[in-house]
Amino acid sequence: NGQWRGIIEEYRDLIDLLPEGMEAVTLREGGTPLVRADWLSSLTGGQVWLKVEGNNPTGSFKDRGMTTAISVAKAEGAEAVVCASTGNTSASMAAYAAKAGLKPLVLIPEGKISAGKMAQAVLHGAQIIMVRGNFDHCLDMARGLARDYPVALVNSVNPVRLQGQKTAAFEIADFLGDAPDHHLLPVGNAGNISAYWLGYTQYEQLGRTTKRPVMHGFQAEGAAPLVTGEPFPDPETKATAIRIGNPASWHLAEQAAKESEGEFTALSDEQILAAQVELARREGVFVEPASAAGVAGLLAHLEAGADFSGQVVAITVTGHGLKDTSTALESFTDVVDTVVDADVDAAARAAGL
Ligand code: F0G
Repeated sequence: NGQWRGIIEEYRDLIDLLPEGMEAVTLREGGTPLVRADWLSSLTGGQVWLKVEGNNPTGSFKDRGMTTAISVAKAEGAEAVVCASTGNTSASMAAYAAKAGLKPLVLIPEGKISAGKMAQAVLHGAQIIMVRGNFDHCLDMARGLARDYPVALVNSVNPVRLQGQKTAAFEIADFLGDAPDHHLLPVGNAGNISAYWLGYTQYEQLGRTTKRPVMHGFQAEGAAPLVTGEPFPDPETKATAIRIGNPASWHLAEQAAKESEGEFTALSDEQILAAQVELARREGVFVEPASAAGVAGLLAHLEAGADFSGQVVAITVTGHGLKDTSTALESFTDVVDTVVDADVDAAARAAGL
C-alpha cells in the first residue's frame, strides 16, 4: 500500500528523542534490500544476507541517521548544520540540509575523500572546509564550532543519529522474522555498530525477536584502535571511509562487542579490496572499499577455521561502489587501458575469442 515512507514514518513510535509531532525531513531513506548472498552462503553452509545500504538516497547508511538529525535540527530552529566527515556523512548531510533549507558546513580531511562524495557535497550546496589533518581533527573542530557558534552538530556524537541508524536492525529482524545469529560490519567512528546494537536490543526487549546477534566489527589494520585498544594518531587505509584513529562511539561499540560476545578484527587493505571485487563478481553487489570490510571479515574468519554452518549471518555493506571509482579501478589499469580500432576482428582478438 503505497511507497516506503522513510524510516521516521515507518518506525516513529520506536525512535526516541524526536520532538512531539515533529515533521520529518525525508528522502525516503531505509527500506533497503536484504539480498541473499548465494556464494557466501555456500561457503559457510548457512545463510548469509547482505543489507545493501548503498541503495539509500545518497548511497550510504548515513541517510538513516541524517533524516532524524536534520529533522530535529530544523524543528529546533537551527539555520546551519556542521559535520566532520570522511565523505559519506557530508554527502548525506548536504542533501538533507538542502531538502530542509538549512546551510550545510562540512569539514573534511584534505585529499582523503573520494571524488564522488566530494561531488555530492558540492552539488548539494555545502560550504566545504578542507582541513590539514585527519577525520579526528575535523571532528574536534566540528564540536568546537557547534559549541561556540550558531551551528548544529550532526555527527553521530549527536545521539539522534544513532536513533535513526538503529532502524536498519529493525528492518533486518522484520524481514528475517527474528534477529540473525551473527552481524558483521565495518567500523570507523563506531556509530553504526552501536546503533545496530541499540536496535537489536530494543527489538528483543519488545519481544519482537528471541535473541540478539553476535556483533563482529572490522577495521582496517592501519586504523584499528578498537582492535589494539589504543588510538591511532596517524590512521591510514585505502578504505578512506573508515580512516579514523579515535572513534567517538568507542565505549558504546566496545559494550556492543562485549555484551554480544563478539569482537573487533583488523584486516589488511588487500583483504578489503579483494573482498570488494569478489562481492562485485560473485554476488553482483558493487560496494565502496570500506563497505566490503564485513565480507572480508567473514572470509578471514572462515579461513581461520570459524564455523558458521547452519547460522544466519547478516552483513551490512554500508556504501555504494560508485562512491569511489578511482580506488576500485586502481588494480585494473590493464583492462581500462585496452583500446582497439573500430573493427570486429580487432575486438575479437582483444577479447581472446
Ligand atoms: N562504511 C562507510 C561507507 C562509511 O562511510 C563509514 C563511516 C563506515 C562504514 C563506518 O561507520 O563510522 O559508524 O563506524 N563514515 C563516516 C563519514 C565516518 O564521515 O562518512 P561508523
